[in-house]
Amino acid sequence: MITKIMQDEINNQINKELYSSYLYLSMAAYFEEKNLPGFAHWMRIQDAEEREHAMKLYDFLLERGGKVILKAIDAPKTEWNSTLEVAEEVAAHEAFVTASIYSLYETALKEKDYPAQVMLQWFISEQVEEEKNAADIVASLKLIESHGTAVLVLDHQLSKRGNS
Ligand code: FEO
Repeated sequence: MITKIMQDEINNQINKELYSSYLYLSMAAYFEEKNLPGFAHWMRIQDAEEREHAMKLYDFLLERGGKVILKAIDAPKTEWNSTLEVAEEVAAHEAFVTASIYSLYETALKEKDYPAQVMLQWFISEQVEEEKNAADIVASLKLIESHGTAVLVLDHQLSKRGNS
């Protein structure tokens, strides 16, 4: 039987995963509005993955004789200023989720909950991948942006060019 402390923390993590799903679904809608179906597709996949994460924790809790207690999910943002801003927010959010998983793992160590430790190791590996994917997209967008700036610099130089 799972301890009350572990049960409470897993229920909190379920809420964070469902919030992540909600946040990414909101980002998908933002990208659809901006006519960026590829980015919207990326966010829809993220949304589905977050729901799977929530369900892994949900099923684990039930298997261990715990009680699933679903809490209210905060409303996510609906507006961003740029594609880069969204990607940076995904990266920051994934770092927040990683910290939360680490904290949950520390509790599992303190509680000597060995099955929870094994289950959470999957999440620890998953977060490495999630953080890397987000960081790669941020890096690509920054590269695009810097090239955009380079084009503007060239445009400015060309505007000053005389006949020769
Ligand atoms: Fe469930 Fe993207 O962390």
